[in-house]
Amino acid sequence: QELQLSLEQIEKGGYDHFMLKEIHEQPKAILDTYRGRMLADEGIIRMAGIDDHINKFMNAQRIIIVACGTSWHGGLVGEYLIEEFARIPVEVEYASEFRYRNPIVTSKDIVIAISQSGETADTLAAIKLAKSKGAFVFGICNVVGSSIARETDAGAYTHAGPEIGVASTKAFTTQITVLTLIALKLASKKGELSKPELSSLLQKMQLIPGKIENLLKIDDKVKEIAAVYKDAPNCLYLGRGFNFPVALEGALKLKEISYIHAEGYPAAEMKHGPIALIDENMPIVVIATNKGHYEKVVSNIQEIKSRAGKIIAIVTEGDTQVKEIADHVIEIPETEEALTPLLTTIPLQLLSYHIAVMLGKNVDQPRNLAKSVTVE
Ligand code: G6P
Repeated sequence: QELQLSLEQIEKGGYDHFMLKEIHEQPKAILDTYRGRMLADEGIIRMAGIDDHINKFMNAQRIIIVACGTSWHGGLVGEYLIEEFARIPVEVEYASEFRYRNPIVTSKDIVIAISQSGETADTLAAIKLAKSKGAFVFGICNVVGSSIARETDAGAYTHAGPEIGVASTKAFTTQITVLTLIALKLASKKGELSKPELSSLLQKMQLIPGKIENLLKIDDKVKEIAAVYKDAPNCLYLGRGFNFPVALEGALKLKEISYIHAEGYPAAEMKHGPIALIDENMPIVVIATNKGHYEKVVSNIQEIKSRAGKIIAIVTEGDTQVKEIADHVIEIPETEEALTPLLTTIPLQLLSYHIAVMLGKNVDQPRNLAKSVTVE
């Protein structure tokens, strides 16, 4: 028993929980994911799983992304990235719905299955169905040699390293990294991005690990915010564009480990329902990056303010407008809007972590949840 404990202590590398360790591993995990796959200055992305089947990708009439949980949120970011850059239509489906709804899939479709564990039963079944309908299936997995990695026609590993905490963190940001590389590679191959444009985006990508490293220093500030809202019964997360899926993921992290009811919404949908919930007891996390429909999100923030909701805003460094209205502000470093999910996710992970710790919850093994769901 004692030996067991000390081994676990060693595995946690000085952190109190695996989740915190894994949050802090993200700069390295993201670097490991793109290292060896891109030459930023030359504007080159090499991914064997894509290069070997490039004609399939170039002729794809549609990409369907299937996944569950956090990986499904990664898929949503992928939809925004691939449509924005590569201009290929993308649909994102819950694997569990896709597999049972008799979906229209043909050999002109590419299905991308995303899974940290590579063992999720619904995702595996969705892959088998897609293959039976003649689609080419590409896997984005973290666990090497997993069932999904073996079942797919080609793929790309995330190289995040082992993820132990049930609440997924570094698997999510590395999935987004792989999806960014795929989107940019296809865009460049299709002529949607010039070499210099691609090179400039890749150079910005190379700055992301360092930016996350700096961002992680805001931990104390996030802790202070966590202390204020840890007893809230509900929490709302809002974001737009690339950061809409990040809002969903932020809400999922909070409910998974702190058991606080949380919902993520596209900011502009607030007026179609969630606004009715806003009063002085409702904390609302709003992602308001400077290039992400900023003015529109600011007017959402004003609407929250006028209903006395508590605003925790994630803004870009140097922001002045939101700072005047929000109750709490967390700054992320400047980058390309398409790359901001890799940054905005970090404070949301830390917020849910600190709230769960303060509430005395089992952060690494939340009740009723499993790391890998191999049954329906
Ligand atoms: C479980 C885990 C989640 C994960 C989901 C999908 O619910 O608790 O963290 O996002 O499964 O898992 P996968 O391994 O397919 O990414």
